[in-house]
Amino acid sequence: MCGIVGYVGDKQAARFLIEGLTKLEYRGYDSAGIAVYNGESDAIRVEKSVGRLAELEKKIDSNVPVGCMGIGHTRWATHGGPSDLNSHPHTDCTGDFAVVHNGIIENYLALKEELIEAGHVFKSETDTEVLPHLLETYYEGDFEAAVRKVLRRIEGSYSIVFMSKADPDTLICTKQDNPLVIGLGEGENFIASDIPAIIARTRRTYIINDGEVAVVKKDSVWITNRRGEPITKKVFEVNWNAEAAEKGGYEHFMLKEIHEQPKAVRDTLSGRIAKDDSAVILDELKWTAEYVNSFSKVFIIACGTAYHAGLVGKYYIENLARVPVEVDIASEFRYRKPIIDDNTLTIVVSQSGETIDTLAALKEAKRLGSKTMAVTNVVGSSIAREADQVVYTWAGPEIAVASTKAYTTQLIVMFLLGAYMAGLRGTVEDSRMRELLGKLRNIPAQISETLEDVDPIKAFAQQYGYNDDVFFLGRALDYHVALEGSLKLKEISYIHAEAYAAGELKHGTLALITRGIPVVALATQRSVYEKTLSNIKEVKARDAVVIGVAAKGDTELHKYTDHVIFVPETDELLIPLLTVLPLQLLAYYTALTRGCDVDKPRNLAKSVTVE
Ligand code: F6R
Repeated sequence: MCGIVGYVGDKQAARFLIEGLTKLEYRGYDSAGIAVYNGESDAIRVEKSVGRLAELEKKIDSNVPVGCMGIGHTRWATHGGPSDLNSHPHTDCTGDFAVVHNGIIENYLALKEELIEAGHVFKSETDTEVLPHLLETYYEGDFEAAVRKVLRRIEGSYSIVFMSKADPDTLICTKQDNPLVIGLGEGENFIASDIPAIIARTRRTYIINDGEVAVVKKDSVWITNRRGEPITKKVFEVNWNAEAAEKGGYEHFMLKEIHEQPKAVRDTLSGRIAKDDSAVILDELKWTAEYVNSFSKVFIIACGTAYHAGLVGKYYIENLARVPVEVDIASEFRYRKPIIDDNTLTIVVSQSGETIDTLAALKEAKRLGSKTMAVTNVVGSSIAREADQVVYTWAGPEIAVASTKAYTTQLIVMFLLGAYMAGLRGTVEDSRMRELLGKLRNIPAQISETLEDVDPIKAFAQQYGYNDDVFFLGRALDYHVALEGSLKLKEISYIHAEAYAAGELKHGTLALITRGIPVVALATQRSVYEKTLSNIKEVKARDAVVIGVAAKGDTELHKYTDHVIFVPETDELLIPLLTVLPLQLLAYYTALTRGCDVDKPRNLAKSVTVE
């Protein structure tokens, strides 16, 4: 989510740190900071500033920190809103240690309590700040040994660079589930969370793997595994140009973001499922059974893709927690005199947290006395600030206009919310809860598995990508995913696409189904499976070309369709997290086939701040 950099060498560190952060600013831009040490002065010099990197540059312009070792950070806020104090680098009480971190330290609250009890004073609200304080606690003259002790205490996902005043020629970095790369120079070495930060300086890199610890000096890089055993790494020569590097080597941000979904979803789930799978933990809510039982109704309000996530959310909350839910399009909600009182909970869903229709609907719900909650991806956004409570999706910055990882992480939050409410209301049996949460844990790996084989989808895109119309069908949750699949296709490939509840087709739209029309039919919901097959037969009888989407193990669907795309098996409540993936890819490859501008489709903007 954030961008991190480090430098140790013969030259001035600040110059590379700012240059590297500039290349990473697209990953997060609510604050930036650097820490530089010259090996002589009394303290590591730390400079940070809320806002874009330019603010930091302005701040240090006339007095650039001097020193040949340094670390830097550009922040996409997670724990703690955007502010000078929450910006990285973070330091300990003595100022002898500085740390930059990308990711989430899941157990930071317990560690923070322990450190405060031991007399440490914290300056920020971040999870990261426990790291320098732990380092201070464990440092007894051996930097690497202290870092290893810190690593044994922390849980979560991270890439981290540690800096110590007593070791002015050494940076130590490590990673778990977050990217980290070391750039190899002559008389200097570079550290970065992403390749774009370093390719102007070197193309020779070490790609660091989970659990590896690298001790980086100006003319050596010493890498060991978790147990401290040395590792011999192959140099990875980067041959991407700067633009491709920003996209992680993918052709478009959309494709990169599709492939980021395993990690995004893992981050969303991070620390939110009890270790024994018995319950959902949503520390940010602290609801009681009495509070949840006071809701007579829940409204979910959003626009576009977020609205589609809301439709799935309705299904989750009603199915698991048995509380009635109404879902509304934000631009409709506020003008239709909704019936709301103080027993209503209004949940607004918004990736950007800035969509004006959603913000206005939230304000209207508040005015009418509703309790309010936001599900958003952007800390400190207008919607996050306006709502009474917030649950973040932690998807990281989404740059392509067409939303992908924001949607799947929104589904995860909606599921967690449904299960959390169910836990408090006692509406789901313990064994079923454990089964569901156990399966939820597997979803990131199953997303990776689903994204492994894209060739058949590419082939469909090439074969059917020039049709003028495409239909998407499904029942129950499959229908809601069909809506999202059709929106994706429309917005980036400009093909007319419509999604229908499969049973509704015969009430009019079936008249549009003619020979050769592609129909994407999802059939994963067991309770309506036979009925969905009947609807598929109806379109097949009109000579449509049917591409089915089913869970592995389905032996029926292929008999009634022209092709079938299989996704891994999971609970039918969770399967939208998998079935949406081939639809995202289908939209992507179709747009590519048609030569469309995938990341910036015509007439659309990423954040819609007009009504
Ligand atoms: C479609 C898409 C849009 C957004 C909608 C709401 O791919 O991205 O439909 O979902 O504009 O935006 P947020 O979630 O930022 O409120």
